[in-house]
Amino acid sequence: MDNDIAKVLYSQEDIKNVCQKLGKEITKDYAGKTPIIVSVLKGAIFFTTDVVREIDLNTEMDFIDVSSYHGGVASSGEVDLVTDMGSDVAGRDILIIEDIVDTGRTLKYIVDLMMQRSANSVKVCTLMDKPTGRVLKIDADYVGFTVPDEFVVGYGLDYKELYRNLPYVGVLKPEIYE
Ligand code: PRP
Ligand code: MN
Ligand code: MG
Repeated sequence: MDNDIAKVLYSQEDIKNVCQKLGKEITKDYAGKTPIIVSVLKGAIFFTTDVVREIDLNTEMDFIDVSSYHGGVASSGEVDLVTDMGSDVAGRDILIIEDIVDTGRTLKYIVDLMMQRSANSVKVCTLMDKPTGRVLKIDADYVGFTVPDEFVVGYGLDYKELYRNLPYVGVLKPEIYE
């Protein structure tokens, strides 16, 4: 698996540090509140579990599974709701956890859904932001890393459902997807 990686962008150590930093910020900003942490499957699975354990607050957790890349390197342009969350969102403070914001389509879809369901507030924490990929005007409130315009895998992110279990974020060798 490691053989398919051209270079490591963010090591386990880098990710740990960024989770601590974001967890502290979120703890401060949500003092006195009990947000619902909404993890966007599948990509955000590892980031979610690491960052929530750096948040020193009462929180609820829920999961929503949406997909638009279908394993490929480019957004299909359409976001499919694979499995909805179970919590009642009305009147609640929602903190969406994403692995990456690229075109912004996935995020826009989920933020709009939370607003339609009458959330009290909706904020977004993403491990990575790729501003060069943006198609829709939407940004995260908490960003771990701003990534270059490269297709990244690992630590939850896949190519054809593979590489999610790499403990770091890396760039795939171009010959893998060309
Ligand atoms: C990826 C990634 C984000 C989204 C970002 O999910 O995990 O959720 O795309 O891209 P965007 O800003 O262009 O919408 P994907 O559709 O690959 O599903 P997955 O998380 O199950 O891999
Ligand atoms: Mn995703
Ligand atoms: Mg994917």
